Amino acid sequence: PAARCSDKKSGLCNSLIRKNEAKVVTMVDVEDIADKAAFCRCWKTKNWPYCDGSHAEHNKVTGDNVGPIVVKRN
Ligand code: FES
Repeated sequence: PAARCSDKKSGLCNSLIRKNEAKVVTMVDVEDIADKAAFCRCWKTKNWPYCDGSHAEHNKVTGDNVGPIVVKRN
């Protein structure tokens, strides 16, 4: 089957974040979010779990269209 993620050789989504762990699970306390927080969904950020804008380069290189999820407090 075709690779479904950005690493075309291996099919891996995650090539750099917490690779020593079997599964990356991130807990964020909603009380720690001020007004809003942008969470990375492209797995290319250098500031996991937050978006640092790295998705823009990823999209440019791969033709993908991914971006963060933004959690906002009312
Ligand atoms: Fe990954 Fe922005 S850096 S979504």
